[in-house]
Amino acid sequence: MSAQFHWDPETYLQQVRAEIPRFDELQDAAIEAIPFPPRRVLDLGVGTGETARRLLAAYPEAEITGLDSSAEMLFRARELGIETRLARMEDPLPDGPWDLVIAVLSVGELDDEGKRDLLRRVREQSRSLVLADTDAAELAESAGGEVTWSEGDLAVVAAAY
Ligand SMILES: C[S@@+](CC[C@H](N)C(=O)[O-])C[C@H]1O[C@@H](n2cnc3c(N)ncnc32)[C@H](O)[C@@H]1O
Repeated sequence: MSAQFHWDPETYLQQVRAEIPRFDELQDAAIEAIPFPPRRVLDLGVGTGETARRLLAAYPEAEITGLDSSAEMLFRARELGIETRLARMEDPLPDGPWDLVIAVLSVGELDDEGKRDLLRRVREQSRSLVLADTDAAELAESAGGEVTWSEGDLAVVAAAY
């Protein structure tokens, strides 16, 4: 999905569930795709922290850094007690190494070269990757991973490096 859309943290969940009826299934499938219990996690486009909240429930030991280009969305994610960075995915990522980089419904804004560049940078700094998005299946090969869940144009891709 296009991440160019300006999300309002107050109405985000209502809006995204209306746009993507399988939103909660996608989130659950992303958590299930995590290849091993992660300690240091980078959540790209963390938004209000929907994925981070589920990840912490499954892996309470995880230390999550949430990156997002929207200060309003990050403000909400901070309520989870995670570290947050106001930054763009196109810019250098916070220093790894990461056990896991996870990105749910956030890489859709990038053009093809931007996506490939991001995947290359993630691979240099992370032991694993989980991508969940519309058309994520098309990125499985570039990510060096495999599709673990799909429904219509939604897919989850997981890779371990
Ligand atoms: C649809 S929301 C998804 C939020 C969260 N991952 C989830 O699953 O609920 C997309 C998020 O990506 C962020 N975003 C969009 N483009 C970005 C970019 N280039 N760099 C960093 N964050 C970006 C938006 O601000 C928004 O919070």
